[in-house]
Amino acid sequence: MVELVERDADLGAQVEVRLDPRVPVIPLPEPVPPAMTLAEALLSRRSHYSYRPLSRQDLSSLLWYAVGVQRRSGPHVLGTNPNAGGLPTIAVHVVQRGSVFEYLREPHALSLLGGGDLEGVFAQEEFAQEEFARRADTVIVLSGRMGSGPAKYGPRHYRTAHVDAGVAVQNLYLVATALGLGCCAVAGFSDDAVKALVRAGEHDVPLVLFVVGQPVSGHNEGA
Ligand SMILES: Cc1cc2nc3c(=O)[nH]c(=O)nc-3n(C[C@H](O)[C@H](O)[C@H](O)COP(=O)(O)O)c2cc1C
Repeated sequence: MVELVERDADLGAQVEVRLDPRVPVIPLPEPVPPAMTLAEALLSRRSHYSYRPLSRQDLSSLLWYAVGVQRRSGPHVLGTNPNAGGLPTIAVHVVQRGSVFEYLREPHALSLLGGGDLEGVFAQEEFAQEEFARRADTVIVLSGRMGSGPAKYGPRHYRTAHVDAGVAVQNLYLVATALGLGCCAVAGFSDDAVKALVRAGEHDVPLVLFVVGQPVSGHNEGA
């Protein structure tokens, strides 16, 4: 049973919300493959610091091609991004215009966690990059799942989770570039603010943020 609750401006269609489970799940549109070649994406990739709004269609293509589920192998759900041991080591959240979502790799959808804004997120003392909060339209949060569940490799899991986040960030950079988007990875953020924003579990550690939107041409100097 589904209920129609909101009209999505990007899709021009109504969004379905599942009543059971009770958390609203918002399906993402069919991803569109980027046309740019890998060589072009590698050579033209740059960090951008000003952004216009990101459409739901571009968000869908970005998430699926960068960190979406590609296939299964036994109990493993495998993505376009490789993970150590094929384990679900990285949680992906999206903060967009006052709403916080968890990206559900299956069934390629957003789960609405609730409201939240970027105030305080970029106020980490050593970096003080509050400019990002004003300019960002969409922020993707990559968190390491450090809990005992995926810790098949013991303490080494702590190390490989960081590598997995780096791999995912590079995929995000290259797919965003190939889709013509502007983006920037951000390591300078307030751990506490981000944990509160994404409702992080006890063993979840935000590792890197990825700010993304339509690029503002000629404006890619640092925040
Ligand atoms: C893991 C990672 C973290 C980063 N953190 C920040 C950051 O906190 N603030 C920032 O302005 N840029 C950040 N950047 C962007 C780098 O400064 C940028 O990649 C570098 O200056 C090279 O520029 P380019 O990406 O245009 O080639 C980060 C990049 C990476 C890969």
